[in-house]
Amino acid sequence: MKDKQLVQELLDFIDASPSPWHAVATMEQALLDAAFERLSETAQWQLESGGRYYVVRDDSSIIAFVAGQKPLAENGYKIIGAHTDSPGLRIKPHALFKAGELLCMGVEVYGGPILATFTDRDLSFAGRVSYRCLTGKIKTKLVSFEQPLLRLPNLAIHMNRKVNEEGLKLDKQNELPLLFALSSKEQLADKVFTELLTSQCELDAEQILSWEFNVYDVQKGSFWGANQEFYTDSQLDNLASCHAGLNALLDDAVLNSGNTVVCAFFDHEEVGSESSKGADGSFLPDVLERIALARTLNTEDYKRALANSFMLSVDMAHAYQPNFPTAYEVEHKVYVNKGPVIKLNANQRYSSESLSEAMFITWCQQADVPYQKYAHRTDIPCGSTIGPMASAKLGIRTVDVGNAMWAMHSIRESAGVLDHRYMLDTMRYFFKS
Ligand code: CO
Repeated sequence: MKDKQLVQELLDFIDASPSPWHAVATMEQALLDAAFERLSETAQWQLESGGRYYVVRDDSSIIAFVAGQKPLAENGYKIIGAHTDSPGLRIKPHALFKAGELLCMGVEVYGGPILATFTDRDLSFAGRVSYRCLTGKIKTKLVSFEQPLLRLPNLAIHMNRKVNEEGLKLDKQNELPLLFALSSKEQLADKVFTELLTSQCELDAEQILSWEFNVYDVQKGSFWGANQEFYTDSQLDNLASCHAGLNALLDDAVLNSGNTVVCAFFDHEEVGSESSKGADGSFLPDVLERIALARTLNTEDYKRALANSFMLSVDMAHAYQPNFPTAYEVEHKVYVNKGPVIKLNANQRYSSESLSEAMFITWCQQADVPYQKYAHRTDIPCGSTIGPMASAKLGIRTVDVGNAMWAMHSIRESAGVLDHRYMLDTMRYFFKS
């Protein structure tokens, strides 16, 4: 079945991407395979008409684009935006410490994960290491430990009698450190960690200068449901949208459409996007402007290009879970396998407005894809996306959309098999429009 094959590719992509740095590396490989050329922000850009390029900022945000032949000022940029990061746990700088006769790993909470879902899972960690190579230059290496190294065992119910009535509450400072090893008296915690790193990175201890590590679940993605019509994995929010966007970009008809199509995938969405590589930073404005300059547009024509542009801000949406009916706005329930969700919020937590919404509906109809409309309960604060920030910065008309999923920000999220192709098909129509 074609739809299932596409989702299997998504699961393989996620399982190869245990951190935002890995996600960008995985996407970079797909772009190189499709004859895209890497541009450096420190070099001068010479863009060929119809050329395929990508730019990476600080290893975990990536913008890929085709410099389409159609006149940019009149045709604008067609942008798909999403984010590469997911909420979870990050390893603290002094990683290991002794607790009785055990070695534990200190963690910091990144964004807003459902912490209870991190208990009793096969955890490991992955990220990037900065080191000094023999020439004296500082380089960066991706590292993933792959086998389960860490665990957050639950407290037995005999010591937490009210857990089923009151829910699992974890004190962030004291109850989140992950169990790593038995420890002997003589062992120095820092030395154990350094040895772990040096053997995995094939570097000497003196070479390693710094690192950033994300905790992840080694369990692979899988299908479930009576007809295997659902799937589950970590990081569906928002690597599912990155995967769909990248596949739309790499579609032959899109590559040859003559449009200047752009995929912009940012780190740091889950912590507010305010960083040099976040959606609230200068990355997207810088790249769009440099595309215009390299194509010899003057300032007015660049502004005209922005005014003629459109952005799909793609992030996941909340599917109806019938066990919790009161959590949802009664008239705006959305379901998995019923097509892309258009997210609407009068207070501009989502960037959609009626015209951008109408345009998205048109692309769905052209692609023969169903669509749904979502509004949050009026009495619960609504989440946000990269959409409002990026469109406010650039003045680009934007719609916020995404596929319905269950358990957003759990370490094991679920979604519907049909929706992934629905989203991809709609994105293709948008890029070709
Ligand atoms: Co998200």
